[in-house]
Amino acid sequence: MILVAATVVGAKTPLFVPPTLTGPVYDLTMQNGTMEFTPGVVTPTAGYNGDFLGPTLIMHKGDDVVMNVTNELGEITTNHWHGMHVSPEDDGGPHTTIAPGATWSPAFTVLDDAATMWYHPHLHHLTNKHVTKGLSGMILVRDEVEAAAGLPQTYGVDEFPIFLQDRNINFDGQFIVDELGSTMLVNGAVDPYLEVPAQMVRLRVLNASSARGYNVGLSNGAPLHLVGTDGGLRETPLAGSRFLVTPGERIDVVIDLRDAQGTTLNLVAFNSELEGIDIAGSANGPGGGNPLNGLDLPLVELRVVASTAGAVTSLPDSINVLARPIAAQATRTRTIRMTGAPPSPFLLDDTPFDHGVVNQTVHLNAVEIWEIRNDTSYAHPFHIHDVQFFVLDIDGEPPPPELTGKKDTILVRRRSTVRFIAVFDDHANDDVPYMYHCHILTHEDDGMMGQFVVTGAKDAPVNFTGPARVVN
Ligand code: C2O
Ligand code: CU
Ligand code: CU
Repeated sequence: MILVAATVVGAKTPLFVPPTLTGPVYDLTMQNGTMEFTPGVVTPTAGYNGDFLGPTLIMHKGDDVVMNVTNELGEITTNHWHGMHVSPEDDGGPHTTIAPGATWSPAFTVLDDAATMWYHPHLHHLTNKHVTKGLSGMILVRDEVEAAAGLPQTYGVDEFPIFLQDRNINFDGQFIVDELGSTMLVNGAVDPYLEVPAQMVRLRVLNASSARGYNVGLSNGAPLHLVGTDGGLRETPLAGSRFLVTPGERIDVVIDLRDAQGTTLNLVAFNSELEGIDIAGSANGPGGGNPLNGLDLPLVELRVVASTAGAVTSLPDSINVLARPIAAQATRTRTIRMTGAPPSPFLLDDTPFDHGVVNQTVHLNAVEIWEIRNDTSYAHPFHIHDVQFFVLDIDGEPPPPELTGKKDTILVRRRSTVRFIAVFDDHANDDVPYMYHCHILTHEDDGMMGQFVVTGAKDAPVNFTGPARVVN
């Protein structure tokens, strides 16, 4: 039996804004805890340095950092830095396990540009269980480009992390590890509100759900200004009334509240199994049975209060210069097929994940085109570790403007093909693989994942430091 958390009008809880940790040493303890999502109902949870979610890690490009991750969960797990360009042994994939009671301490240089990254467990078969319990945290990488762009970047004042997670909670308060939940949690709260100043406010929105897609917008129809995608800042802001965020993806958006003091609006999302496009094949049927499906659900009530000193009051015209590899520079194209049909699991290339099999071998410095072909009747967000990529085309057409920035996760709609281009530089290790997988956690746990190594066999480095180039 599934209970839907009651929403009592006027009884909103303040949005939890995770505390920050700054480096160079970050101590994270994965620990068990409890939460009361509905008053009086105790849910066993897990978090980093707390009961649910984890601190926001603030890093700067170029920093040398040490991560001490201690596992106090009482069971084996791993911890992955989603989106970060680190060596495979520091990446925290399924091979890099942390035994109960042990501390894992990777040390690396932050090579990433300013971006919204995140961290979560990645143990094969148990990723959904551990993430569902609450193990997710955000990483904000900062750099000089971001500072010079004049974007809001005072965490907790004009910049806020937004974790979107649906959950199933049974009559006992236990989480049910599943695909689609019937209770919406934003930063671990049911029906929260947030006081925001009457100025430019930046939201770092992360889809940390197992399978649900959110088409995010504002209740008053005002635009969101997209300033960054998964792996970094865009060249220019892009105004849009809605942006779709699928599992694993992030959007970095600015909202203009300059004239909104004293008003209340909602961050909302049309909620569905990947926006209704693929509901037909789902266990829940066309929205049936799940109270969140098909709803334009309020995520966070935004209560606009007085502006702060030093408020950002305008949006930059230009933010960033992106040096893009072009298709002509690619040394190789590889095709990955999404395969399978329920009741059999979805797979990649008809092959279930096997820790002992390296599915792809990439040369260091290679520029590659990956063609992801979805032969299934379901949409899947494809994620690759190690690199950020640029989408070249979707079914032969240039990507829509919201998908032209740096990405590490991309929705591949049913029967559709996405081609992206990436540079595999800096880190080679013939022994430890990186992962690529569907970020629907049930699919990943069921084997919709493959692995690649970047070998010491080198391609000649290609120089991408020139002016921004147009993807062709
Ligand atoms: Cu967010 Cu391989 O994962
Ligand atoms: Cu990842
Ligand atoms: Cu999938």
